[in-house]
Amino acid sequence: MKVKKYTILALGTVAFASAAMFSSCVKENPDSPGMEFMPDMYRGVGPEANLEFINDAMKDSMTNLLPPDGTVARGWTPFPYENNAMGDSLASAFWKVPASMRNDSVEMEGKFYYDRFCVYCHGDAGDGQGKLVTSEKYPNQPPSYLDLNKKGTLTDGHVYHVITYGKGVMGSHAAQLSPEERWKVVLYVERLGRGNISMAEYQKKMTETVATDSTKATAPVQPK
Ligand code: HEC
Repeated sequence: MKVKKYTILALGTVAFASAAMFSSCVKENPDSPGMEFMPDMYRGVGPEANLEFINDAMKDSMTNLLPPDGTVARGWTPFPYENNAMGDSLASAFWKVPASMRNDSVEMEGKFYYDRFCVYCHGDAGDGQGKLVTSEKYPNQPPSYLDLNKKGTLTDGHVYHVITYGKGVMGSHAAQLSPEERWKVVLYVERLGRGNISMAEYQKKMTETVATDSTKATAPVQPK
């Protein structure tokens, strides 16, 4: 009889324990960690980060406040010219590639971005014969950089302005290219305008052309 009493007690304990175990599995909140000894440590009262209300809620704190007006992020180069014809010509006159970037290797770094963002309209040679144009999927043929170079309008600032704001039917590429990347593309576009040769080669070629032209012009006409 005594044994039976203990058996019932033992069985009862097991039943209670398993009931408690299973009941904790079917909680209303499945994320709950179960029994909590120090609930505050499980559930903080701090507000969630990056919510809109935080600027109000944390007015006196140094965190999560909006930067003051006119703040410029480190390394950011503001572009002071507006998206209009005046801005374009001012940029063309005053906005120049930083001198430290003007060299052959940086010029070729621009090809990386050109091949991703410009080539399918402007073409490998910059002649406006990109795949989208030759396949007739895009109805607007961009002008040839070679022609623009001859006209003298392929300036640093103008190309930068076009990349930043777009021009006519061409959209802005400001979201795709950082200011530094834009300069690299500008340099590569100018290289294409020269017929994809380095500045040194181009200058040599131009001097030769001028030299041969002037010899032709000044060569005395031989009497027959
Ligand atoms: C979707 C096709 C397309 C893409 C992509 C594109 N362009 Fe253009 N681009 C054009 C067209 C079309 C024009 C002519 C716009 C006009 O005058 O209406 C143009 C004009 C230009 C001009 C101005 C030429 C002038 O008249 O002085 C420059 C410079 C230029 N693009 C550079 C770039 C660069 C650099 C990229 C890449 C970052 C690029 N474009 C990407 C289609 C494109």
